Amino acid sequence: MGENAMEKVVSLCKRRGFIFPSSDIYGGLANTWDYGPFGIELKNNIKRAWWKANVYERNDVLGMDAAILMHPKVWEASGHVENFYDLKSDCKSCKKRFKEDDLKDKKKCPECAGELTEARPFNLMFKTHQGPVEEAANLIYLRPETAQGMFVNFANILDSRHPKLPFGLAQTGKAFRNEITPGNFIFRTREFEQMEIEYFVRPSEADSKLEEWIHYRFDWYLSLGIKKEDLRKRPHGKDELAHYALACTDIEYNFPFGWSELEGIANRTDFDLRQHAHASGKDLRYFDDATKERFFPYIIEPSGGVDRSVLAFLINAYNEEKVRDDTRVVLKLHKDLSPTKVAVFPLLKNRAEIVSLAKKIAQDLKKCFVTMYDDTGAIGKLYRRQDEVGTLYCVTVDVQSLEDQQVTIRDRDTMLQERISIEKLKEFFNTKFN
Ligand code: GAP
Repeated sequence: MGENAMEKVVSLCKRRGFIFPSSDIYGGLANTWDYGPFGIELKNNIKRAWWKANVYERNDVLGMDAAILMHPKVWEASGHVENFYDLKSDCKSCKKRFKEDDLKDKKKCPECAGELTEARPFNLMFKTHQGPVEEAANLIYLRPETAQGMFVNFANILDSRHPKLPFGLAQTGKAFRNEITPGNFIFRTREFEQMEIEYFVRPSEADSKLEEWIHYRFDWYLSLGIKKEDLRKRPHGKDELAHYALACTDIEYNFPFGWSELEGIANRTDFDLRQHAHASGKDLRYFDDATKERFFPYIIEPSGGVDRSVLAFLINAYNEEKVRDDTRVVLKLHKDLSPTKVAVFPLLKNRAEIVSLAKKIAQDLKKCFVTMYDDTGAIGKLYRRQDEVGTLYCVTVDVQSLEDQQVTIRDRDTMLQERISIEKLKEFFNTKFN
């Protein structure tokens, strides 16, 4: 992507309607972003591809969707009230707040060289109050991970679906963390979305299942077009592990700002089930019919960020290509991720019969594929516009189409064009997209 890679992607996102600064007309809310028409399609397609690979194509993972608001005891039992914090120092002059890790033993404020306070723990959970009265008894938290919603439903799932080990639960959803140093566009924000699997296993098979999931998840990113040289696995050192983890490997992407975490795959042991069993007084052990044993399963957790995936897929897909004297920007997104699959244009927008045929074709295709109609520019401009948002095929209706009932299809990546009969269009796209 060359120089200014992040700036180019951020600018494309705003210009073309993928991602906007939140509350833009008020000057934006720092590090908060809104997804526009193409952004939401891309994001939904990523979640759909994740669900397909992790729920529909497996026999051992069930989907669910827990509430964001949970009983405050969940976060005491999970250890988040006590352990989920960053050490931070405040500058006494400019009042900026810094993560201890980022200061790297610096004794002065990196911004204004002012004096720093002693490092203090800063809990990352957002607090709010449930109901009309703001008092301690009503204190609740916005969940900082979706995972706990699956742990606290473990008994419900056993009682309703009777799955046998090993089995998993999967969910996607919003999580919130009052990060001290958010940044890098949608990479680190305070409100974000996760895609998490909690995979329950016998303790004896935890190591092998951890390895299996690391490979399975790594291959998922490759299967959707992430370049192999930009993806790597990085096992955590003991000092980096979260309070609940025995081992963890990150899948990292080579972002323009350096290699950074896309997803972590952790062995959470039986920590969470034990904690919730103890705190709730409910028996959260698994009963093995064959051995008549009751025990707490271990949990292997592949936990990825939706927004980080959006950013990685956008950066991975962004291309600038020389076409004669021009440069075309094209998002070479995988076919399953492209926000729009087909765009239909009339070559001449002042010819009513051509416009009407193009609209009819677009309307017909919409029933099967995400299709848009556009007649707001000359053909060259319309192609470029669709390239920038990753549309896979453009269909052009011209004068000749009225006579021979054929249209021109243009391929996003090769820019090659072919004539095809209108009645064969659906069949053509079916073979390309399914
Ligand atoms: N349940 C385990 C867990 O939450 P994590 O490593 O803290 O583990 C998992 O988070 C994933 O969530 C990360 O790999 C990242 O993709 C995403 N994530 C975490 N914090 C984020 C933030 N502040 N902004 C955007 N994504 C974030």
